[in-house]
Amino acid sequence: MSSLDLAAILRIPELPQQLARIGQDLKDVTASDNPFLQGPLARLLTVRGKRLRPSLVLASAGQSTEAVFAGCATVELIHLASLVHDDVIDNADSRWGIPTISSQEGVDRAILVGDYLLAKAAQQAAAINAEAAHIAATTIAELSEGQAYELMDTRNLHRSATDLKKSLFGKTAALMSASCRIGGLCAGYTSEQIAALAEYGECFGMAFQLIDDVLDFLSTSELLGKPTGTDVREGVYTMPVILALAGQHHQVVEPLLDDTSPEARVKLIDILTQDNCFTRTIAEARQYNDRAVKALDNVFDDSLAGLRALPTAYITWSLQQYVADEYKDKLVRSGLFGKS
Ligand code: IPE
Ligand code: IPE
Ligand code: MG
Ligand code: MG
Repeated sequence: MSSLDLAAILRIPELPQQLARIGQDLKDVTASDNPFLQGPLARLLTVRGKRLRPSLVLASAGQSTEAVFAGCATVELIHLASLVHDDVIDNADSRWGIPTISSQEGVDRAILVGDYLLAKAAQQAAAINAEAAHIAATTIAELSEGQAYELMDTRNLHRSATDLKKSLFGKTAALMSASCRIGGLCAGYTSEQIAALAEYGECFGMAFQLIDDVLDFLSTSELLGKPTGTDVREGVYTMPVILALAGQHHQVVEPLLDDTSPEARVKLIDILTQDNCFTRTIAEARQYNDRAVKALDNVFDDSLAGLRALPTAYITWSLQQYVADEYKDKLVRSGLFGKS
C-alpha cells in the first residue's frame, strides 16, 4: 500500500515537514482541559489522514506564512469535524482503521467533539482576517446543507443527478474550494485569481467525491480503513446507482437496494459493472478534473503545475490503491484505469 505522494505531485519538497507542523498545530489549538473531550480528541489527532485540504492551501498559496498555516489548520479542523459528524449520520464504526468516536465513546461525545473542532476552526480563520472567517463560516453552512440534501433523498429512487450534485458540492467540493480560496487570499492574489482557484477546488472536490462513491462499492473496509457498502445500506443513492436506475436493468436493481444480504451486494455490483455505471461515474469525475485544470489555465498561464497535476494523479492513485483485486480485472477492460 503506497501512500499518496503529495509532495511529489504538488512539487513541494518541504511538504512533509509542513504537514508535520500542521499536525502539531492541530494538537495545540484543540488542547482542552475537559477530560470528556481529551480522550477522543487525542485519538483523532494521532491518525494521519492524507491532509489533502491543507496541502491545497499550501499549493494554492505557494508560500508558508503564519497566515497560511492558520488557513491549513482551519480547513483540516472543518474536515475532521465533518467526518466525526458524518460517522454519526452514517452509523460508521471505523475510520482510518480505528473505531469512530460515535462507536467508541458514543454519539453524544461525537457531536460535542465535532462542535468543538468547528469552533476551533472558526478561531483559526478569525486569526487570519475577517474574509477568511467569512469563508470558513460559509463553508460550514454549505457542508451542513450538503449533508441535509443527502438525507432528504434517503431511499429516493427518483433522486436525480442534479440533486446528487447539490449534495456533493456542499459536503465535499465546498471545503476543497474554500481551501484553495484561503490559500489565494493569504498569498494576496487578485480576486480573479482567487475565483479561479476556488473553481479549481470545487471541480476537483466534485471529482473526489464521485470517486469516493465508486470506492464505496469497489473497495473493501480493510483497504480504505472505513466501512464500505455504507451508502446503499443507509439509502444513499450515489451516481452509479442513479445511472443504473435510469438504465435497462432498473427493475432488477430496485429490490437489490433494499436487500442487505452479501449476495445482493455482489449482484448489484455485477449489474452496475455490466451497465458501465462505474466507468461512467469515473468518466464524469475526469470531466470535472478537466474543468478544474481549465479554470487555472484561464488565469495562471503556466504556473501552479503541481495543482494542475493533482486531479488526475489522485484518481489514478486512488483507483489503483483501493479498488479490490476481484473487481480490478473486470474493470480494466472497460477502461476504468485508462488515462484521462
Ligand atoms: C474523506 O476525505 C471524506 C470525503 C470527502 C469522502 P479524505 O479521504 O480526504 O479524508 P482523510 O484523508 O482520511 O482525512
Ligand atoms: C463525505 O461523504 C462526508 C463529508 C465530506 C463530511 P461520505 O459519507 O461518503 O464520506 P466517507 O465515505 O464516510 O468518508
Ligand atoms: Mg460517511
Ligand atoms: Mg463515502
